[in-house]
Formats: sequence, C-alpha cells, structure tokens
Amino acid sequence: MSRAPVDLTPRESLDVLRDVLAPLVAQGAIVRRPLMTGRAERRQSDGRCAAVLDRLRDRHGGAPLVLRLGGRRVVLVTEPDDVARVLDGSPEPFTPANREKRAALRQFQPDGVLVSPAAERRRRRPLNERALANGSAVHPAGDAVVEQVARTAAELAQAARTTGELDARTFADAHWRLVRTVTLGEQARDDELLTKRLDALRAAGNWSYLHPVRRRLRAAFLEQVRGYVEQAEAGTLAAAGREAAEALAAEDPDASNLHGEDRHDVASQVPHWLFAWDAAGIATLRALAVVAARPEVRERVLAELTTAGRGAAVLPYARACVLESVRLWPTTLVVLRESTEPTRWDGRTLPTGTGFAVVSSYFHRARSGSALGDRFVPEAWLDGRADDDRALVPFSAGPAACAGRDVVLFTASHLLGRLAGLGLDVDRGEHLAHDPLPRTVDHFGLSFRLGGRADRSLGTVEEASDGRGTAGPGARGGWT
Ligand code: HEM
Repeated sequence: MSRAPVDLTPRESLDVLRDVLAPLVAQGAIVRRPLMTGRAERRQSDGRCAAVLDRLRDRHGGAPLVLRLGGRRVVLVTEPDDVARVLDGSPEPFTPANREKRAALRQFQPDGVLVSPAAERRRRRPLNERALANGSAVHPAGDAVVEQVARTAAELAQAARTTGELDARTFADAHWRLVRTVTLGEQARDDELLTKRLDALRAAGNWSYLHPVRRRLRAAFLEQVRGYVEQAEAGTLAAAGREAAEALAAEDPDASNLHGEDRHDVASQVPHWLFAWDAAGIATLRALAVVAARPEVRERVLAELTTAGRGAAVLPYARACVLESVRLWPTTLVVLRESTEPTRWDGRTLPTGTGFAVVSSYFHRARSGSALGDRFVPEAWLDGRADDDRALVPFSAGPAACAGRDVVLFTASHLLGRLAGLGLDVDRGEHLAHDPLPRTVDHFGLSFRLGGRADRSLGTVEEASDGRGTAGPGARGGWT
C-alpha cells in the first residue's frame, strides 16, 4: 500500500493545531512556562495529542501527514520507519537547522552545532562528541562529576531536613549550581546571573522568529561564558572542550586559524551545553518521583549505588530509570528537521524547505510506536529491547543525535541514586505508584516530603558528600 504523504483537510488541520502543536508551543519549546505545563498536566495534553495522531494514522494508513501553516508545509510522521528515515537522513537531506530552531536558538547560541550549516557542522560535531565523550558511559571527568553530584545531594538532604520537604524550585536551584560547576568550574558555581541571562534569552527563544534578537543581553551572556571557558579548571566540560579542540587542531592543522578564527571554538558550543542540562534536571526529578512512589524501584537503585561505591561507576539500573523518565515524558517535545532538497516519498515529491516533525511523546507510547506503552520498564534499557526500538528517540537518533547523552545519563543516574537515599515520599504518589503512568507530568508541580525511611539514608548522602554539603544561597534562576 502506498504511503505517499497526504494533505490534511481543514478540519484535520485544526485538530492537529489544537491538540498537537498548540500545547507544545504553549509550554515553551526552549524554556518551559510553569503555568502552561500545569495546564498541560491537568488536560493530560500528551494523551489528547496521541489520540488525534492515532486517529489520523488509522485513517490514512500511516502515511505522513502534510499540514499547511501559512506558506509553510510541515509533515508529521506517524510510523517508526519514517522517524528513522528522517533522523538517519540528518544533516542532509534533512537538516536539524530548520528555520524555527535557528530563529529560536540564535538568541543564545548562534553558532551551536544544532543550528549550524553543513560546513560548520562538520567540524563542530566532532568537537562536541569529543568534549562530551559521546559513546563513553563514563566521562573522563567522571570523578569530578561524581564529587559535585554528591555535594549537590548533600545540599538537598540538608534543605529537606531543615524544611521537611523538597520542592521543584529547591531542586532546580541546586541542580543549576551543579550544572555550572560541572560545565564551567567552581568559579561559576554561584553565578546566578549567568543562569538568569540564559533564562531570559531562552524565554525570547520560545517565540522563535517572532521575537527580535536580544543582542546586548546575548553579547553579555556569551562574553561571560567565554571568560569562564578560558579559565575553566581540569575536570570540567569546558576544559574537556579545550582539550578536544587542541587535539582536533593537531590532527588537522590546516583547519585551525582559518581567516583568523579558531575553527574549533569551544566557547561557541558551551551555551547549548548549559541550556540542555535543564532537561537533565527535569528528567532526574521525574525519575525521582517514580523512585519515591515505588519502594521496589528505590531499593534496587539504592542497592546498586551501595555495590558501586563512591567512585565514577556506571549505574546501569539508575541510568535505565532516567531513560524511562525521558521515554515516558520526553523533554524535547518535538524533533524538527527541514529538507535541503526535494523529497521523493512514495510517489509524491515535497519541495525543498519542507518541515518534518517527530512528536516524541506520541511514538514513545503510541500503538504504532513502542510496545512499552504507559508502563515503567527500566529493564527494557538493560536487555536491549529499547535499543532495538526505532520509535524511541528521547535523545533523537542518527548523525545529529544528542552528543551529551552519555554524560547526562552518567550524571543524572548518580544524582538519582543519591537522592533515592533521602527516603522521600512524593506528593500525589498514587498516580506514579502503579501503571499505567500519566501521559503528562508537570515537573514544576512535583514536591516531596521526608518519609519515615529518611534518617538512615540522610547519613549515607552526607557521608558521600565529602563533608561539603551545605545548602547554598538560593539561586532563583531555574525552570522559568
Ligand atoms: C535529558 C537531557 C537531554 C536530552 C533529553 C537531550 C536530547 C537531545 C535531543 C532530542 C537533541 C536533538 C535536537 C534536535 O534535533 O532538534 C539533542 C541535541 C544535542 N544535545 Fe542533548 N539532550 C539532553 C542534554 C544534553 C546536554 C546536557 C548536553 C551537553 C552537555 C547536550 C548536548 C547536545 C548537543 C551538542 C546536541 C546537538 C547535536 C547535533 O546537532 O549534532 N544535550 N539533545
């Protein structure tokens, strides 16, 4: 049966706009808007989105759905094979640097690899891969990362003990301190202004080309980042980036200093790293909520950490819990591509510049997508089932997939393991204790209380912190 892309009728287009695209845009593609994520949870908007896409998929036999948005064509794919085709075809003929993303990300990372033209991507992608140790479960800076994670967990333990609870805001503030330290070093740890500037630029980015570039703010932010990158001590991602740049330059001396520019410019890539850690915090918090609601999961996470000891070990089960978090509740709401040449698709040709959209939350649970559905199944990431499943793309897939996946999973799994030791109870835990899990979970709304299991566990967290765990000043930058 032909699966040539079909044009949606006006009625179908309206359904897609209302239940698929509008909630994504409203929640904020670049930085989440708390009011809107709360609303999305109340409406379980990912469930509505899936219902519309399932209906259209059944009606059109899985053919890609062509939506007209003014003068623009956006194709929504509904079959896992088509997800693979689009993502494997990056950066050409399907570039990740589509119009909307370029306009959004130029606010704070105009030269990031994700929005780079093909020629620049060819040298920026290897720099990112090397600096972030893409493909290595343990980053070379793993010991320093674990030390900072333990420090963060101890801060959160202390905050929880003082107030008897842990809310998303407190978690986000501590997580940003962790992010700034791991990425830029101790010097940046308490630089709340850096995060505030980034947040303001991200908020402008939410409007894509509808918002003019905040040039002065961007210049101030980028200068701050550049200063930190130059000074960053060993054991930070910025220092790993500098080393990667030197190594790449040595391998290809002709590529350096072309037109007086450093062709392996780390500082231009770091804004993406900072921005993207936000998603790691969200994923960790949601995973923690499930861990707190399910004693058997918590016990397994804790047992693994105890066996692994304090060093930079891989924690496969905790890692799998984080992966389940981003499968069930993907932090990249939609993965966008744009064709760089005419696309021939089952007998129909779509012009250059056509947009392609993969709505991750749909595929991760859809009837046509992953068999894992609404269940919490970390085992699927341990036994190979998830790896073989082309419908699962929380970190995207193909040549332009997330270069930070491994360092994120390493960091988040260690933080999750240590926070599991706090013995927290999650509010509204009854929704997370059993399958099926809710389609949409507002991370801003998550809050925890110290449960009866806390005393033994608090000791464990603080011992692991090397005695440095004090709750830092409340940096109010965060998920806003
Ligand atoms: C839970 C956390 C994260 C998730 C779920 C995630 C997911 C993704 C996704 C889906 C993409 C593709 C975006 C697109 O095609 O539009 C991407 C790209 C990227 N991510 Fe992540 N990311 C996370 C955290 C990070 C972190 C912390 C870093 C760096 C430290 C990072 C580095 C990158 C880079 C460099 C790219 C661009 C790759 C390219 O264009 O070749 N990510 N990420």
